[in-house]
Amino acid sequence: MATIIDGKKISLEVKAELKEKVDKLKEKNVMPCLAVILAGNNPASQIYVKNKITSCEEVGIKSLAFTFGEDVSEKQLIELIETLNADKTVDGILVQLPLPKGINEEAVCSHISDSKDVDGFSPYNVGGLVLGRDSFESCTPKGCMRLIKSTGIDICGKRAVVVGRSNIVGKPMAMMLLKENATVTICHSKTENLAEITKEADILIAAVGKAKMIKADMVKNGAVVIDVGMNRTNDGLCGDVDFENVKDVAAFITPVPGGVGPMTIAMLMSNTIKSAEKRL
Ligand code: GUN
Repeated sequence: MATIIDGKKISLEVKAELKEKVDKLKEKNVMPCLAVILAGNNPASQIYVKNKITSCEEVGIKSLAFTFGEDVSEKQLIELIETLNADKTVDGILVQLPLPKGINEEAVCSHISDSKDVDGFSPYNVGGLVLGRDSFESCTPKGCMRLIKSTGIDICGKRAVVVGRSNIVGKPMAMMLLKENATVTICHSKTENLAEITKEADILIAAVGKAKMIKADMVKNGAVVIDVGMNRTNDGLCGDVDFENVKDVAAFITPVPGGVGPMTIAMLMSNTIKSAEKRL
């Protein structure tokens, strides 16, 4: 039976470390500040934004929330972003995705200053990750790295397989593992013989958005399995990994919920503080 990686507990440890950093910033009269923009009525987005604001309060970051209806225009969003870009007291700007139908997300988000893009989604920050620079890193894969490191395994030289190639998770995840000298393979919906490849993984990351698709016979004995999936099914919330069976094969595994999820927000706090530290 695998050791369960407790993302909730680790996120609390991270937030406690971050609170100390915030206290030091405040001693120097820097008040870290995150602006969160929510447009439309997506219920999941509303919960995510609420959780982000609560986390800001927990670590002592000031949060500014801007909410718009479904009928918001690109122009309104862009004008707000430009105002926040120019505001020296704002360290991070986050536009919660998805935006309402008809709004071009890329056109809107491209206005966020690279130096305030605490989601790490901009071409500049993604490029910085690829080039190994100290840029803002996408929060979910950054949180996964912290969970992998919490197991104490040495990533260097290990075989890592990432299932999923999204811009927000799969691609940056692969780059972060490469940065730590893993041998990385990215698999996706067109991959042939997927199980053969996943079975070679010392570190397996599932980020596809398909409930319980990673079965026990696809996992190497003693692997570290990180489940980024968050699928709503008739049986409730579940990940991309068939947890009940994979836990008997893996050495370490993240649960859903309580694994990767809480880490994403902790890393958003970390990026916001990193941005605020540049004010010193
Ligand atoms: N929607 C779902 N996940 C995310 C995220 O990490 N950041 C933003 N901005 N929107 C999201």
